Amino acid sequence: MRLLVCGGAGFIGSTFVRIRLLEHGDEITVLDKLTYAGREENFRDFADHPNFQFLRGAIEDPAAVAAAIAARAPEAIANFAAETHVDRSIAAPDAFVSTHALGTYVLLEAARAHRLRYVQVSTDEVYGSVDVGTFSEKSPLAPSSPYSATKAGADLLVQSYFRTYELPAVICRGSNNYGPYQYPEKLIPLMILNALHGDALPVYGDGLQVRNWIHCSDFARAIGHVLEQGIAGEVYNAGGPDEQTNIAVVKRIIELTGTDESLIEHVSDRPGHDRRYSLSSEKVRALGWAPRFRFSEGLEQTVAWYRENSWWWEPIRSGDYREYYERQYGRSLQA
Ligand code: NAD
Ligand code: TYD
Repeated sequence: MRLLVCGGAGFIGSTFVRIRLLEHGDEITVLDKLTYAGREENFRDFADHPNFQFLRGAIEDPAAVAAAIAARAPEAIANFAAETHVDRSIAAPDAFVSTHALGTYVLLEAARAHRLRYVQVSTDEVYGSVDVGTFSEKSPLAPSSPYSATKAGADLLVQSYFRTYELPAVICRGSNNYGPYQYPEKLIPLMILNALHGDALPVYGDGLQVRNWIHCSDFARAIGHVLEQGIAGEVYNAGGPDEQTNIAVVKRIIELTGTDESLIEHVSDRPGHDRRYSLSSEKVRALGWAPRFRFSEGLEQTVAWYRENSWWWEPIRSGDYREYYERQYGRSLQA
């Protein structure tokens, strides 16, 4: 397939591109704005692949989107481009509104003009928090944060383009992802890198919030199934096989990094913090998808990857991320 992958320089987008290039022989154009989270380092192992090209540009810029479509006449658009960190959305929601609302609109218009298949990459956070049971595709949308609310808005716009214009669009909603190349603002890489450096491990509130973890390669493969086989207009949930409390995740990272529980520090809770996410995946499993990683094995692999790939995270930890960390946590990181 010829694909335009928006946001392909990020964590999950670059994982998806790697799998599609190397395992499916797709021709891929990445359009990415390269925000703090988008990095050409994520392409290092496939940057010279003849079926790959990268264009820097924003999805809310119609000229950049038109140029990306003209570059290799894609058959489909996969949209990963997003602002993705809940804490940043609480501190400064503006980029979340422009990328998710305006950016998705510009891509949908381009898909409509060229009659392209379209897959919107979305999140379980659009359903809000669930104390017991699990969310299905029929669960009502009840987002809690500016991040999840703007993602939910984008999903509704995608569905309107199917109903109104018959755009062959599908939505794939994933649970919490982890794995190599994840920006260290998120729980798992933050805790791994802090543990490796002897920094405090900041656990929000009581740490008993539950997340449903999926390895990024499993989510990327689910998106591939939905892109190829999903029925237009439908939503497909892709949840990981395991749920864990945050404190259990942190304690396991402490074991895997050979550090000490004295590093754990309970800090103020996140406003509007969702207590639990849980996602059923029967619909995407019916398309032939199944997760390959259990969390215990995937977490070990992820800790090993961060240990072995300091070339990837050193520039982040010595750059703007330090200032972000000080703003967010009120303390500085060790050198
Ligand atoms: P990420 O923050 O690692 O990457 C986002 C990418 O989008 C970056 O490369 C960034 O430069 C790019 N981008 C941001 N704004 C852009 C814009 N206006 N125009 C073009 N590019 C832009 O995010 P991720 O974790 O890889 O998430 C990818 C997608 O998956 C997002 O849509 C997110 O909502 C969804 N998702 C993430 C998770 C998770 O746990 N990380 C779970 C479920 C769904
Ligand atoms: P995060 O990785 O930000 O993902 P999300 O908010 O999208 O689920 O956070 C995962 C969980 O970890 C969430 O319950 C918040 C918690 N958390 C901490 O306890 N400390 C931290 O420093 C971070 C970043 C998250």
